[in-house]
Amino acid sequence: MKDIDTTDLSWDDWDELQRPAAESVAFDDVVEAAISRRGFLSGIVAYGSGAAVMGSGLLSGTSAEAQTVSRFGFTPIPIQTDGTVHVPDGYSWQALISWGDPLFSDAEPLSQENGVSVGSSDRVFGENTDGMELFVVGARQVIAVNHEYVNTKVNLPASGGETTSADDVLTLQNMQGVTVMEVAEGPDGWGVVVDSDLNRRITHNTPMTIAGPAAGHPLMQTAADPAGTTALGTMNNCGAGKTPWGTYLTCEENFNGYFGSSDPDFELPADYARYGIGKEGRYGYEKFDARFDVSQNPNEPHRFGYIVEIDPSDPTSTPIKHTALGRFKHENAAAVIAPDGRVVVYMGDDERGEFMYKYVSNGVYTPGGPTSALLDDGQLYVAKFNNDLTGQWVALTPEATGMDAAEIAIFSRDAASAVGATTMDRPEWVAVNPVAAEGYCCLTNNRNRGVKPNAGGDDTSANGPNPRNENNYGQIVRWYPSNDDHGTDTLTWDLYVMAGNPTVHDDAYGGSSNVNAGNLFNSPDGMQFDSTGLLWIQTDGNDSNEEGFAGMGNNQMLAGDPATGQIERFLTGPKGSEVTGLTWSADRRTMFVGIQHPGAPFPDGEGMLPRSTIVAVKRDDNAMVG
Ligand code: FEO
Ligand code: CA
Ligand code: CA
Repeated sequence: MKDIDTTDLSWDDWDELQRPAAESVAFDDVVEAAISRRGFLSGIVAYGSGAAVMGSGLLSGTSAEAQTVSRFGFTPIPIQTDGTVHVPDGYSWQALISWGDPLFSDAEPLSQENGVSVGSSDRVFGENTDGMELFVVGARQVIAVNHEYVNTKVNLPASGGETTSADDVLTLQNMQGVTVMEVAEGPDGWGVVVDSDLNRRITHNTPMTIAGPAAGHPLMQTAADPAGTTALGTMNNCGAGKTPWGTYLTCEENFNGYFGSSDPDFELPADYARYGIGKEGRYGYEKFDARFDVSQNPNEPHRFGYIVEIDPSDPTSTPIKHTALGRFKHENAAAVIAPDGRVVVYMGDDERGEFMYKYVSNGVYTPGGPTSALLDDGQLYVAKFNNDLTGQWVALTPEATGMDAAEIAIFSRDAASAVGATTMDRPEWVAVNPVAAEGYCCLTNNRNRGVKPNAGGDDTSANGPNPRNENNYGQIVRWYPSNDDHGTDTLTWDLYVMAGNPTVHDDAYGGSSNVNAGNLFNSPDGMQFDSTGLLWIQTDGNDSNEEGFAGMGNNQMLAGDPATGQIERFLTGPKGSEVTGLTWSADRRTMFVGIQHPGAPFPDGEGMLPRSTIVAVKRDDNAMVG
């Protein structure tokens, strides 16, 4: 990576540079994969030869249905390749808050030359907005929102993006994590209530409790925390979730990239490899903050990669890392109540060839009842999809894995490999339909499908829900829990959509029949249902608009009808950006949408710094938008 400017890489690409996923497979294995793929295609999935490619029951929704029924309250918009946000006629957007905007009035104004000062860096809105949820606290509305990572060139402009001091590290640590902020709508639209007593920044240094099976385990103990029960900070907060009892779930994704070794000869613990923890961190934290130097603190990485619960109604509350929900590159958390009252949390592990999980509490949720044990005492499962469109959630128990409860919590990937879980094309957001018993997961893309195994050595030949080798477009898998019960361990599944480009390809890479020249997209990532049961899909993909991606334009947000399969484009983001994070105002008349890492001077215009921003989208007639 010496001659590559890593400050501009996506996390995904950076990770791949650090840790090329295993060695390439032998030629014989490739041939074998191709043969089994053909067998799979003829036996399970009936790909046609034209642009309308999917014919079997695997895919739902047909373009004929889509043309006759529409639940969408908007006129779909065309692709865009410019530097701003577009929404349909009859809708408007405004910026709610951008990187560097104050949450507290004592913060210094953002400098175009120097960014945010270290002293103000935990008093302002952080960078790279991602998952978010809105909460009603009394009569007030509060958004909790993640700041996934930092673009160092934007945050450290004086050094050209290099981390040169402890202050630089602290600035970066403060610009990530989570913001909790009160928002209000006035005559000039939405804004943040500066100095609200509910405003809070949670950073890479905020104390948090470690709970669940891994709490106190020797692998969690450090010199600074010999009990192994109190961690500092939450990192690489990607997607989000919300509990039935009104707390926020923030999900630690690419935590591995923050650690490095000051000692080049330090022998990395064997368990690091599966999670991609290496000797050189992405931001150089290890040079100025010993906590991130694994040669001094080899257990510190074991304390990240969890789901963290935050109470947005109490700025003095201590966030809780729930290790029972497993340690992996958590994307988001979709919580739902099973018919018997148990809490079910669906989760994806976003890495090529990793898995989908769910957690089921042992106790039941009752409104107003105790909730403190619901995310600590329960069972973690991993998904196994069969080619006959059935599947199982396999319990990760000591008997099944040969690991104890703490080891399952800390090394969940190994536990899942031990039971033969289905390798997936990078599970991003999971969403649960509020009006039907079904779940969805964005499998964003996987250029390694059929090319090389995952980091645990698991075979990644094409399989049922991941049927395309070198999958650059992505798909959305849908499952139906048996008996309409999210607590059961059996399911049936289909594919809601396979993204593709029917204007370029006449095979499976042309996508499913609900993809057409009018709604082209790639790499579905963020995903949320609205209260009416429409599925909102956000993309984080190739926006070159060339070759196989021609006609797809900038990253975007689309709406999907689960019943018909119809998908239409609602919003386009600025060039270079990812559209990620979605929530609604309490009256459902405003939709808040995250614009991450714009590649253009958004939203302030020419000559200004590009700023990650949450936009508020409304109908001009102020009708509901979800
Ligand atoms: Fe942070 Fe997998 O996206
Ligand atoms: Ca994502
Ligand atoms: Ca992504």
